[in-house]
Amino acid sequence: MHPMLNIAIRAARKAGNHIAKSLENAEKIESSQKGTNDFVTNVDKEAEALIIDVIKSSYPDHSIVAEENGLIEGKDNEVQWIIDPLDGTTNFVKGLPHFSVSIAVRIKGKTEVACVYDPMLNELFTAQRGSGAQLNNARIRVTPIKDLQGAVLATGFPYKQKQHSESYLKILSSLFVECADFRRTGSAALDLCYVAAGRVDGFFELGLKPWDLAAGELIAREAGAIVTDFAGGTNYMTSGNIVSGSARGVKATLKHIRENGNEAILK
Ligand code: IPD
Ligand code: CA
Ligand code: CA
Repeated sequence: MHPMLNIAIRAARKAGNHIAKSLENAEKIESSQKGTNDFVTNVDKEAEALIIDVIKSSYPDHSIVAEENGLIEGKDNEVQWIIDPLDGTTNFVKGLPHFSVSIAVRIKGKTEVACVYDPMLNELFTAQRGSGAQLNNARIRVTPIKDLQGAVLATGFPYKQKQHSESYLKILSSLFVECADFRRTGSAALDLCYVAAGRVDGFFELGLKPWDLAAGELIAREAGAIVTDFAGGTNYMTSGNIVSGSARGVKATLKHIRENGNEAILK
């Protein structure tokens, strides 16, 4: 196993176990608002500190991009750790037990290793570039759907960017006519892992941040999924707009996005 994946897993488990434990003492969770419908808790921050500690003790020179701390520049700018300490904060605040810790390592702009940990189910999704994707060490693969008939798609609502509601809902209602059903789980990192594991047939969301996507994207691709932005390109780390699934599933989803999305989101 890549040594950095080992460290990523150690950090994710440590943070995940802290988050799960914190949910048992829900009265001690302090929540504050960062932006419109955007919450952060003391537990997000504590989990992030635990992860940064583990990384820094093995790789003191690496750079880190972490949701709550921003960019922590190290001497080595070629290696960058991308961290979401708690993906699914809204679920966490509500006591809804579906959230994850997401950690990816990018070297010279390419994601090399990734892990997403769900501490409530003790499920660890991992991937190393070129070596496939695993759930608790067992190989996972995307479901090779040919079209959207019977497909169950995961998505996320643009609840922090309601200016995109109309466009998003047009895409959603057009897709709904063709596919079987939707899931809105509340953790984009797990949505991508669930595509990888064949638990859903595809996923799309707009306006995500690099830490929501970086790990799940590699895990999905290593499981055989296609990942694109809303224009069918590969700019999703910048635009935050992402579609994932089998090649044909993504093609069919993109058709609805293209036909119903406005210019502001077709990137
Ligand atoms: C959020 C979750 C959610 C998605 C949002 C993300 P956070 O991350 O991934 O599923 O719909 O767009 O921002 O804020 O809980 O880390
Ligand atoms: Ca997130
Ligand atoms: Ca988060």
